[in-house]
Amino acid sequence: MPGTKEVSSTGDHLEIKDSRTGKSYTVQITDDTIRTADLKQIKVNADDFGIMGYDPAFMNTASCRSAITFIDGDKGILRYRGYPIDQLAGKADFLEVAWLLRHGELPTQAEYDQWVQDVTYHTYVHENIKHFMEGFRYDAHPMSMLCASVAALSSFYPTSKDIFDEHERDIAFVRLIAKLPTLAAFAYRHVKGMPYVYPDNSLPYAENFLSMIARMSEPKYEAHPVYARAIDILFILHADHEQNCSTNAVRAVGSSHVDPYSAVAAGIAALYGPLHGGANEAVLRMLQEIGHVKNIPAFIADVKSGKGEKRLMGFGHRVYKSYDPRAKIVKALCDDVLKVAGMSHDMEIALELERIALSDEYFISRKLYPNVDFYTGLIYRAMHFPTDYFTVLFAIARTAGWLSQWEEMLLDKEQKIARPRQIYTGHAERPYKPTLDYKHKITK
Ligand code: CMC
Repeated sequence: MPGTKEVSSTGDHLEIKDSRTGKSYTVQITDDTIRTADLKQIKVNADDFGIMGYDPAFMNTASCRSAITFIDGDKGILRYRGYPIDQLAGKADFLEVAWLLRHGELPTQAEYDQWVQDVTYHTYVHENIKHFMEGFRYDAHPMSMLCASVAALSSFYPTSKDIFDEHERDIAFVRLIAKLPTLAAFAYRHVKGMPYVYPDNSLPYAENFLSMIARMSEPKYEAHPVYARAIDILFILHADHEQNCSTNAVRAVGSSHVDPYSAVAAGIAALYGPLHGGANEAVLRMLQEIGHVKNIPAFIADVKSGKGEKRLMGFGHRVYKSYDPRAKIVKALCDDVLKVAGMSHDMEIALELERIALSDEYFISRKLYPNVDFYTGLIYRAMHFPTDYFTVLFAIARTAGWLSQWEEMLLDKEQKIARPRQIYTGHAERPYKPTLDYKHKITK
């Protein structure tokens, strides 16, 4: 599956002949796509609803037109607003990329300075949010805490419900980008049983986040520059990935015109699932299961004979059928981080595993290459983040993409409340015959 299509209008048509009636229909093809609503004209009789498209999991259905992120999975291309991901990761910072995703153009110096200033001065959360966090059990999953606290922000900013007011959207964008690291850090400290650290607004975005994570009694925390840059680059790489599960959740929930905090909380809930945000955790567990480089051939043989039951985690992708462009960047980043943190046992196994898999016919013929998650977990582990915290880091970054996609959906005149059709497979009408003895119920 190639992923998104770059827009081209061919003016071509699809000719469809309905064998039930012998009638022929013409359906326009635009951007290599037909509108499934055009199939509704194909009916057996006037009362018929018309032909629907059936596409569980949206395997071949575009739900929107989007100008934000372009992916070509066969060629290993990922671009935000036209800019290649490697150039952004190499030269930009996360806040610049967040601005780009939303506004479609790189900020001017004045716009960037104002944006950084706004984000920096909205990092604090209401003290009641802190007390709300304190209510979680000591072993609460940080994604649960993040999801609930972002949903709770909605109750602190009731005017954010005015979603067609541009000022309200601006301030919600600032608040969410600014407060996600604070909430994420509070969740981290809560699980560790450590006092929450307030934001230090003299620090840049990634450094401030690391300060809220790691600061103890020192008056000022200075993150290692390699770690701060690694976090910023990982935030850039995870900032958007077109219509994935959580983005689709944000768009669908947002299409009911709920406020953006509630829509983003829906995205966090979707990301929490192990099939979406949890793969980097699975990579680390797999490396620990392998345990030693000498066990790799046996593990690979197991994967190959397992007929898909046992998988090489961090390999393969629904869209990328060549090297995930993000994985190349993360691998280089991992080298930098490990130069500071020290080569890890897990990294030795990962490198050898990758070498063997990339020269093995099983993986080559199925176009299974390392994806972004193969190395991210190693970086997070080297920086001492607990495994169940990895998805939280992903969520901070993806908030930029979620909000950009949410706003694009809101301003798209073609969009309505998301409401799929179904093919009903249940009973035909049947009479109700009581099977319970409802003593309290007066029946006639
Ligand atoms: N290890 C071994 N075999 C695999 C793997 C793997 N990681 N991935 C796919 N295959 C095999 C699969 O068994 C099947 O073989 P066959 O044709 O003989 O039945 C073939 O490759 C095609 O697999 P598929 O399940 O049809 O492919 P998919 O596009 O539905 O799955 C995937 C994509 C990412 C779910 C899958 O590759 C996988 O489970 N990978 C491991 C988990 C992982 O790393 N996930 C992170 C994805 S990146 C996160 C992000 O972008 O947000």
